[in-house]
Amino acid sequence: MHITLAPMEGVVDHLMRDMLTRIGGYDLCVTEFVRIVDQLLPPKVFYRLCPELKQQGLTSAGTPVRVQLLGQDPGYLAENAVRAVSLGSHGVDLNFGCPAKTVNKSKGGAVLLKETRSLYAIVSAVRSAVDKQHMVTAKMRLGFEDKALAIDNALALEAAGADLITVHARTKAEGYKPPAYWDWIARIREQVSVPVVANGEIWSRADALACQQQSLCEDIMLGRGALALPNLAQVIRGASPMGWDEVKVLLVNYSGYEIYGDKGRYYPNRIKQWLGYLKRQYSEAHQLFEQIRTLKTAGEILPCLTQR
Ligand SMILES: Cc1cc2nc3c(=O)[nH]c(=O)nc-3n(C[C@H](O)[C@H](O)[C@H](O)COP(=O)(O)O)c2cc1C
Repeated sequence: MHITLAPMEGVVDHLMRDMLTRIGGYDLCVTEFVRIVDQLLPPKVFYRLCPELKQQGLTSAGTPVRVQLLGQDPGYLAENAVRAVSLGSHGVDLNFGCPAKTVNKSKGGAVLLKETRSLYAIVSAVRSAVDKQHMVTAKMRLGFEDKALAIDNALALEAAGADLITVHARTKAEGYKPPAYWDWIARIREQVSVPVVANGEIWSRADALACQQQSLCEDIMLGRGALALPNLAQVIRGASPMGWDEVKVLLVNYSGYEIYGDKGRYYPNRIKQWLGYLKRQYSEAHQLFEQIRTLKTAGEILPCLTQR
């Protein structure tokens, strides 16, 4: 079983990747998306989003990181994909699932699921530009409004040369609301011969097993569940869930990363956002969240994290 840490814009940045891959259990991380419009982006844009490129594309725990691109222009996506791998990305992933309005207006992300031909054009341009030794992977939802094109889209991604397809088992219209339709991943899995990775609504070991059974996929990708239970990948592999005391140590460590890293000013929001996910697994996170909800600086928040 391979477990991938999902791309999550504004949430899973290099600091979170560093922390979660140190805890372990992940085989790969995918970055937040790099939005491609009408130019070849300078290396600094890639380095900002994925500083791991400066260390052979590996997190400090040695987990490979793959840059994700989002856009609609096959030519520019191809050029930027070549750049990403030349800078050290472990292959390149293409985003066909982002539901954000601004992104979809300029035709990137999930809106492309309405146009099977565009998916084909993008993946074939990227696949032919990127050296064969590097993987070109695609991440799709089951559709935009409905699932009518789910299988056609997956077949087009495969025909265009995608080496692997991750399926977030919901349409754009279904957003992030449970359930995830893991049985639909199985329908895709039965039609394509490239590896398929199942994604969506895995919060526990039991969910992972049910997802594997229903999707017919061995390999999975974890998103929000990875934030709610920081050792979820290890739990799926048989470990016990992490206790709250250990989570508190992580929160303090994360505070160190965030304050001394380049994101200090985002820290209060980031920690609240993460606690928002932790609330799902830990009742203590509710109390802590309430305690820091109105606090605005790291100086005020940190003492709340360390008190017993
Ligand atoms: C806040 C947030 C940001 C996300 N950003 C991205 C992204 O940049 N690229 C992408 O392909 N998917 C993105 N996703 C989707 C996740 O990768 C994943 O497919 C989805 O959350 C379902 O998995 P989960 O139920 O395990 O969270 C994002 C999801 C969330 C909640």
